[in-house]
Amino acid sequence: MAIKTIADIDVAGKKLLMRVDFNVPLEDGEITNDKRIKAALPTINHALDNGAAVILMSHLGRPKGEGFEPGLSLKPVADRLGELLNKSVMLGPAEVVGDQTEKVVSQMSPGDVVLLENLRFHPGETMPDKAKKNPDGKLTEQQQQILNDFIQSLASLAEDYVNDAFGTCHRKHASMYGVPEAIKKKCGNVVAGFLVEKEIKYLHDAIANPARPFIAILGGVKVSDKIKLISSLLEKVDRLLIGGAMAYTLLKSKGVAVGNSIVEEEQVEPMKKLLDEAGEKIVLPEDNVITDDFDNGKPSLTDGLGIPDGFEGMDIGPRTIEKFKAIIAEAKTIVWNGPMGVFEKPDYAAGTRAIAQAVADATQAGAISIIGGGDSAAAVEQMGLADKMTHVSTGGGASLAFLEGKSMPALEILDQK
Ligand code: 3PG
Repeated sequence: MAIKTIADIDVAGKKLLMRVDFNVPLEDGEITNDKRIKAALPTINHALDNGAAVILMSHLGRPKGEGFEPGLSLKPVADRLGELLNKSVMLGPAEVVGDQTEKVVSQMSPGDVVLLENLRFHPGETMPDKAKKNPDGKLTEQQQQILNDFIQSLASLAEDYVNDAFGTCHRKHASMYGVPEAIKKKCGNVVAGFLVEKEIKYLHDAIANPARPFIAILGGVKVSDKIKLISSLLEKVDRLLIGGAMAYTLLKSKGVAVGNSIVEEEQVEPMKKLLDEAGEKIVLPEDNVITDDFDNGKPSLTDGLGIPDGFEGMDIGPRTIEKFKAIIAEAKTIVWNGPMGVFEKPDYAAGTRAIAQAVADATQAGAISIIGGGDSAAAVEQMGLADKMTHVSTGGGASLAFLEGKSMPALEILDQK
């Protein structure tokens, strides 16, 4: 993908509207992980150092789009960003757009930073999603008007637009698509920030032309969430290692006893076909850590593959770990999405931990390792190995959409080199 970035345009003296993904986890109003804020700093600093005034916009959580909700205000984010930038970051009005916002923005000078309030307080931001819910698949006239007005209000604030919101690139929301489209129409630049550039470099470019052997490691709970991903990866990879709860559905397809493990019954037949077609390419667990009580039970190990009735699989076993490690050690490109077991519980974290270490070791030996956002990113962070990977994505749903090869209108609308 050859999208123009902020480095390709002159931003001096301009107002820049920058979409970022500051959808950070909050507990009692406190940010518990500021990774996404830090990830946007290179682009924000570049804009400020080059003489722009920066209007940042983001969503936070999933408010109803019916106005201000105190628990989902971006205030804690504005404060944290101010600390990180070492300058004051003004938070926009609760209405998100309108006269007050225009007034605040009109008073901005180069080097100033304003963070608009949570975009999803306004019904316009997620309005494009509403079309699917209407019988004809289109927005009503009134809905279209709300969307257009919101887009115009945002687009009128600035000359140029920057998308550095990788985590939201799989959404066609107003700030991700309609706004850059409108800015383009008035001859403004619409470009990517450095975070989006980096994510594309790994999640798209590195995979389009991978150093081989190219392997993928998949885990997580549901096969049904990852069918497209499995099909798309099978076309590209040399080996596909599958662990996590989703492996039990696949093992059942092969006729293996899985006891009380999580199984998606409706996927058992379709997966049979997929496994037959994939042959040796798909590598499944050979042993499992199991328990007879998810919450309070003790872990034990299966003798071989089968899981007895009354027990459920919780993690991959030591034989599987060794097998996966040997394949990982040979790999030159590694994509990892989804934990190998219930890693939040220490008794069942060994599989995920061992795989994380093996991927880190392979990276040290020269492989490119790409870790999908969400649970896999959380796992490598929890294990203190995030810095040892080539790239840990900041996007959960967005990294999945990328690896599935889905089209991304929010990126397609940006200026091409
Ligand atoms: C995410 O955290 O995956 C992104 O910020 C997108 O959030 P959403 O799933 O609420 O659109």
